[in-house]
Amino acid sequence: PTPKPLAGTRVLITAGPTHEAIDPVRYIANRSSGKQGFAIAAAAQAAGAEVTLVSGPVDLDDPPGVTVKHVESARQMLEQVKAALPTDVAIFAAAVADWRVANEGEQKLKKTAAGMPPLQLVENPDILATISKLTDKRPRLVIGFAAETEHLIDNAKAKFARKGCDWIVANDVSPATGVMGGDRNTVHLLSRKTGAPDGEIAVDSWPAMTKEQVAIELVAHIAK
Ligand code: C5P
Repeated sequence: PTPKPLAGTRVLITAGPTHEAIDPVRYIANRSSGKQGFAIAAAAQAAGAEVTLVSGPVDLDDPPGVTVKHVESARQMLEQVKAALPTDVAIFAAAVADWRVANEGEQKLKKTAAGMPPLQLVENPDILATISKLTDKRPRLVIGFAAETEHLIDNAKAKFARKGCDWIVANDVSPATGVMGGDRNTVHLLSRKTGAPDGEIAVDSWPAMTKEQVAIELVAHIAK
């Protein structure tokens, strides 16, 4: 039998949204089904990798053979990601909330005559940037996602400098595409050319396909 292409490698994947508590019954979240990240976890596992999937709250079954860590918030996600290192590859497909509520209520907030209670927001850690910038345990290949509703390629290219990752999977998630929550995806794989001066980025545009097919293609590129 032919050896599996990712046998002997460790792969870490984040998926789904994060939930940032406002009080015990309310939260702030991003829209994310987790389908693309779960599909990548399943494809990497099928390719022979030892896979850890750190997932926010989703309505999906754990992929068989994958170690799944369930979290709620961005800070918990970062903690589980760090605990999963070292890995060879890390893929950040989660839609992490950029902000959390600073003054989280210990009790359910009540309507008052004064109107809505003010919510103070503070920035969440950027998990992708944090891991990309590690000096000791940085995975050899760090892949980010860029879900955009306009200026897809330009916005994605700008992320390389900010995030410090090696590849970016860019996808258009504007409502008309049906990507959000849907089963299909149209992606562009952006990569920094190895050995090339900063700023030289290759763009590989893939045709529309199912999220499972995107996952299989991405795993094939990783194996290469
Ligand atoms: O620029 P933006 O934050 O939207 O970039 C998205 C990429 O960064 C995704 O790969 C996402 O998983 C990652 N990210 C993260 N932690 C954050 C915000 C985004 O890992 N707090």
